[in-house]
Amino acid sequence: METKILSTSKQDIALAGKILRGGGLVAFPTETVYGLGANAFDEEAVKSIYRAKGRPSDNPLIVHIAKKEDIAPLVEEIPEKAQKLIDAFFPAPLTIILKKSPLIGKTVSGGLETVAFRMPKNEIARAVIEAAGVPIAAPSANTSGLPSPTKASHVIDDMQGKIEAIVDGGDCEFGVESTVITLAEKTPVILRPGAITKEMIEKVIGKTALAKAVLSEMEEGEKAASPGMKYKHYSPKAKVFIVDADKKTYENFVNSKKGAFALCFEEDEISIPKVVFGKENDDLSQAKLLFDKLRELDELGAKKVYARIPNKDGIGTAVYNRLIRAAAFNIIDLKKPFTIGLTGQTGAGKGYVCEELEKLGFKIINSDFVARKLTEKGSPLLGALQKSFGEDILENGELNRKLLAKRAFENKEKTALLNSVMHPAIIEECKKQSRHPCVFDAPQLFEAKAEDLCYKIICVSAPAEKRLERIMKRDNISEEDALLRINAQFDEKYYIDRSDYVIYNNGQNINEQINRILEVIL
Ligand code: TXA
Ligand code: MG
Repeated sequence: METKILSTSKQDIALAGKILRGGGLVAFPTETVYGLGANAFDEEAVKSIYRAKGRPSDNPLIVHIAKKEDIAPLVEEIPEKAQKLIDAFFPAPLTIILKKSPLIGKTVSGGLETVAFRMPKNEIARAVIEAAGVPIAAPSANTSGLPSPTKASHVIDDMQGKIEAIVDGGDCEFGVESTVITLAEKTPVILRPGAITKEMIEKVIGKTALAKAVLSEMEEGEKAASPGMKYKHYSPKAKVFIVDADKKTYENFVNSKKGAFALCFEEDEISIPKVVFGKENDDLSQAKLLFDKLRELDELGAKKVYARIPNKDGIGTAVYNRLIRAAAFNIIDLKKPFTIGLTGQTGAGKGYVCEELEKLGFKIINSDFVARKLTEKGSPLLGALQKSFGEDILENGELNRKLLAKRAFENKEKTALLNSVMHPAIIEECKKQSRHPCVFDAPQLFEAKAEDLCYKIICVSAPAEKRLERIMKRDNISEEDALLRINAQFDEKYYIDRSDYVIYNNGQNINEQINRILEVIL
């Protein structure tokens, strides 16, 4: 099939209408994204939308109308709140879901008892619908799973040869799809955020919920409030990560990522290849550009992309909602002080892993070194230790470490007392030294309750005989003493259960294991 590219002239709009009435598919611009339209009352035409997009058949379509009077025949009834929204906003980037009338076939509704409808603000869109003379079922005009089209060229890329025509009406005004709200249940729920925000809606109809899946990943077995929620969305070929960080931290982090792309704001100072999606404090500019830039990244052959996190207010909710899906919910949280927490039993070989991570550009923050520094002559912490463990643990101002150890490891209570003095001070100092990407090398990471401060935690593990051998050699002690130390610690399972990843250090392919983990998390 040859796809006609139509203009917005009267004649071309009339032709688009004729094709639609005759059962053909026509893509047309709206204020949100381009839609792929078919006569909503023609089951066969509607089926061909699903085929052209490769869309799962249980994912219903939005019915587009040109006049408010055309709503009533589509629905069982128009409840008061729905009428209020229609009066306040239509025509608008707002889709309302109500119980459907028998006129709506099961292909359009994806087998549901409800129907989604909207009256676009874009005049070309309304002119096309008017010219067709029937309601138009139209999803976004992209191949299922890809970013929605915001320019005619995007539609051509995805739909050339699969549909009868494309009306080229230039770039879409908003760039993210309409807000979808259901009024088919007792409480209104926003299923998809868009340019009509929750605040705007609440001013008209009062309390409105935001579906949980809007801002977070659906849990396994959770039922989708909207079928569209459960499918992969807006995904470019590149692996995308959202970096949750302030401007400076983002810049430092991203600028160390050789071979990757930044998806950043105009203001960001970036030295690796970058694609800019709007200005930092301008959610409208971000919405308008997001899908276009995701497509551009594919054209540029990007393999890995680090996106700056958008502000989640206003239309930013919609931008964030699309971006986390494009990123398959991969969010690197650099608001946490430490990029990686590294822990494990003594003798497991953390040292080697640290050296390798240091070569890869990570700053290593070693809790043992910090602890030593904090207990050097003159440190204020010494006073606190004296209070708990006796004045005589200091000799001429120097800490007698052996004596402190003897007293602190006498029993569990004493050990806990030592930890309660040392751990908070160590963590505070380590936080001060952190800058991303960094490793918090801490044998007592869990005992110090520092897990929430780390983006991901890796534990290093090794067979007991390896650890024994290492400790004896490292500390020059007997097998008996080494065993005492090993047995005083938690077992391997304690660390593995609490960590995100494990590196098995029996001397083989450690670097491969490190790379595999970094590949997934960074
Ligand atoms: O801005 C827009 O809404 C664009 C333009 C073309 O109007 N259209 C659009 O359609 O984004 P689509 O099909 O890509 O997204 C519609 C979303 C899907 O997630 C679908 O699951 C949901 O709305 N939806 C449609 N009917 C529904 C219903 N009856 N109940 C729950 N969710 C529904
Ligand atoms: Mg879509």
